[in-house]
Amino acid sequence: MLNLIRIHLISHLKVLKEKAQEAKDFLRSEGYLNSDFLPIDEGNFILWPLNQDTIPFEGSIVKCKGVGYNKKSRDYRLNLNENIRNLAPRSFDIFGEIAILRLIDDLKDYEEEIAEALLLSHKNIKTVCVDSGVHGEFRIRNLRIISGENNFVSVHKENGMKFEADISKVYFSPRLATERERLSSLVKKEELVLDAFAGVAPFSISLAKKGSKVLSLDSNPEAKMWALKNFIKNGISTGQYRYCTSKFEKFDFKSEKFDRIIMNNPTNSLPFLNMAMDLVTKKGVIHMYLISPKDNSFDISNHLNSGYNCTSKKEVHAYSPSSSLFVFDIGRDSV
Ligand SMILES: C[S@@+](CC[C@H](N)C(=O)[O-])C[C@H]1O[C@@H](n2cnc3c(N)ncnc32)[C@H](O)[C@@H]1O
Repeated sequence: MLNLIRIHLISHLKVLKEKAQEAKDFLRSEGYLNSDFLPIDEGNFILWPLNQDTIPFEGSIVKCKGVGYNKKSRDYRLNLNENIRNLAPRSFDIFGEIAILRLIDDLKDYEEEIAEALLLSHKNIKTVCVDSGVHGEFRIRNLRIISGENNFVSVHKENGMKFEADISKVYFSPRLATERERLSSLVKKEELVLDAFAGVAPFSISLAKKGSKVLSLDSNPEAKMWALKNFIKNGISTGQYRYCTSKFEKFDFKSEKFDRIIMNNPTNSLPFLNMAMDLVTKKGVIHMYLISPKDNSFDISNHLNSGYNCTSKKEVHAYSPSSSLFVFDIGRDSV
């Protein structure tokens, strides 16, 4: 009789080290990261353990033995009873010391158990809340605390910066860290940037850190207070930024033009694209974030004035089974 030894091979995404963080953020936000195993360091490459065999990210898929955790506590779901372990969300957002979970209805009776398991395994988390969706013009999450400290204010660390906010009153998404890093790598010193839907100013600050000057707008009055705190917290000098509580479409720009315009209002940015095209300099760029179908049926060129073109379209993260958050970089044809 054949003596078969079963070795459990796990699919891994092999990426260059400089792409490792971007890959990790993507895999985590999409739920592809197999949190039962550790990443493997292979010289210039990192291998991220996956829970499926193919994923839409640049890199190669390698099957090899997974490296398990020594401490069981890293995957919080291992603290749960088996009946709910596989239903509990594998990934969740973290804003500073606050964990934000999205739970399916079947888990309603188990939410406290899930929160306790999370607090037990993540010592940096002090509050666990459930997010039942983002609403209204200000894009505020519907949050309910299920365990831990009764507090929605925290300081979130990202790319060497710190952003403080009350996430029950203003918008913040930790999933945009890679985008903020991308834009800050593109901006040049002395550029004039318009952050048209600025929130608590994470994009504004990421770009101001590189020496650009920013005008930040947001219609939510609560956002300004946190944004001003954050400019100071991150050492941005007062001559480098202006922040106004205003609707983008109501602001009087006089004759000002901008080298870079950030339009991060993905559920409602298209109606403002015309205005942005009028405000951008000849060599300037518009970064427009938009929720659109995954099947590429949306064609941005139908919405561009003549003389403008889309130089890049990138999927930032999935939004629903059929749609994703995309970023379109838009510039002017060179004359
Ligand atoms: C998706 S959030 C993005 C916030 C910020 N850019 C960030 O990355 O955290 C969109 C923001 O646009 C603001 N907003 C919505 N409609 C607006 C408008 N017409 N003019 C200016 N701000 C608006 C909301 O209050 C919200 O803070």
